[in-house]
Amino acid sequence: MNIKALFSAASVFFLLSFSASTSAQSLYQDLGELEGIDQLNERFVINLVEDRRISHHFEQTDLARLHQMLTEQFCELAGGPCVYSGDDMVTSHTGLNITRSDFNALVEALQLAMDDQGIAIGAQNRLLALLAPMHHEVVNR
Ligand code: HEM
Repeated sequence: MNIKALFSAASVFFLLSFSASTSAQSLYQDLGELEGIDQLNERFVINLVEDRRISHHFEQTDLARLHQMLTEQFCELAGGPCVYSGDDMVTSHTGLNITRSDFNALVEALQLAMDDQGIAIGAQNRLLALLAPMHHEVVNR
């Protein structure tokens, strides 16, 4: 590989890593950083327990812990300076008999909370895209 090719491969690598890190950074910022994510999850947890389709799942749940764990998880996923300290998704959802409809109801509860929080649709979709792959870790476990 000559020096020109090496240089151009290095700049492509640099640009790719730069764009990956800025998009992760800006999602954290678009969610209002730690304070915004904390407020978002306060609303989200209220929506979950008020939704008659899924509230039964949360009857025995420590809601303060759930709020805290969701905040750490979303902060880390969005590229913020947090480390999720909770149980993995399979462990925490096994035995709960969560259905596809339950999952969809939870997504709606989150969307309502994001609307209330004034989070832009683009940022909403980016957060949902990060959560969507967890579907198989949570449903029918
Ligand atoms: C992408 C979707 C989901 C994410 C990211 C998620 C995230 C979490 C997190 C971070 C925890 C805390 C784990 C811990 O305490 O260490 C948790 C617990 C829990 N989740 Fe989910 N969850 C999802 C889907 C669902 C759905 C669809 C339901 C039911 C409608 C549900 C019901 C619960 C319950 C009941 C707990 C508490 C379990 C316990 O008390 O031990 N989750 N979830």
